[in-house]
Amino acid sequence: MLKAKEIVKDFGGLRAINHCSIEVEKGSIVGLIGPNGAGKTTLFNVITSMYKPDAGRVTFKGEDITGLRPDQICQKGITRTFQISRELKIMTLLENIMLGFKDQRGEKIMRGILNPASVKEQERKNLERSLEILEAMKLYELRNEPAAILSGGQRKMLELGQALATAPEMLLLDEPTAGAMAGETAMVVSFIRRMREEQGLTFLIVEHKMEVIMGICDKIIVMNYGEKLMEGSAEEVRQNEQVREAYLGRGA
Ligand SMILES: Nc1ncnc2c1ncn2[C@@H]1O[C@H](COP(=O)(O)OP(=O)(O)OP(=O)(O)O)[C@@H](O)[C@H]1O
Ligand SMILES: [Mg+2]
Repeated sequence: MLKAKEIVKDFGGLRAINHCSIEVEKGSIVGLIGPNGAGKTTLFNVITSMYKPDAGRVTFKGEDITGLRPDQICQKGITRTFQISRELKIMTLLENIMLGFKDQRGEKIMRGILNPASVKEQERKNLERSLEILEAMKLYELRNEPAAILSGGQRKMLELGQALATAPEMLLLDEPTAGAMAGETAMVVSFIRRMREEQGLTFLIVEHKMEVIMGICDKIIVMNYGEKLMEGSAEEVRQNEQVREAYLGRGA
């Protein structure tokens, strides 16, 4: 479904990604791991066109999407979340989720001119869908509270909800359980599983918590110094000597 081929990204003299290629199959959950600074977030930024690669191509469902604008990438069906939650604290949970629908606005403006009634209808649908999302995340009771009151894990769930509102086919999650407590982490994990099962969504997930990655991924890609070190099953990654060295340093 998604292919990044021979991606190179430099920041001044620093090569953050060095001829890295990855593939994500439709309907799969793929983990992207590696030590701090390995280039995981930068690869997300290249795939979602927040950064332009210095070399390499990204294709989605066979179509070359390299160089499209981030909103165009979203229209194609790829949505991402961020390592640091970007929810708007003074807005309510419901307002935050409704924001996720904003990428459909262009279409809405045109239809608004042609048929104002259909815009009202769309808004009603968005509201209904937002409430459904909040319900599924067990945040419905808090829907009219400001996002500032949420715990770390609830924030991550809210961000996942915003991403879902864009009706994606593929989600790129950057550390979806960072700052979440054990119980909340389990909830995020089971939610990801459910979205794959019920909606057939495809996932690429960066995560430092190994129990999360090992538990939900069909395939794990390991990055180190901007390159793909290896890829394989949880077991293969666990057994791999080079992976151990990358994390622990030589001689460990
Ligand atoms: N905007 C930028 N400008 C300059 N250097 C950058 C920029 N973004 C990332 N880097 C550098 O590129 C390298 C890869 O960073 P990146 O954030 O992709 O790593 P990461 O694998 O996501 O790490 P972490 O697990 O700590 O989040 C690092 O050396 C980082 O300092
Ligand atoms: Mg990162």
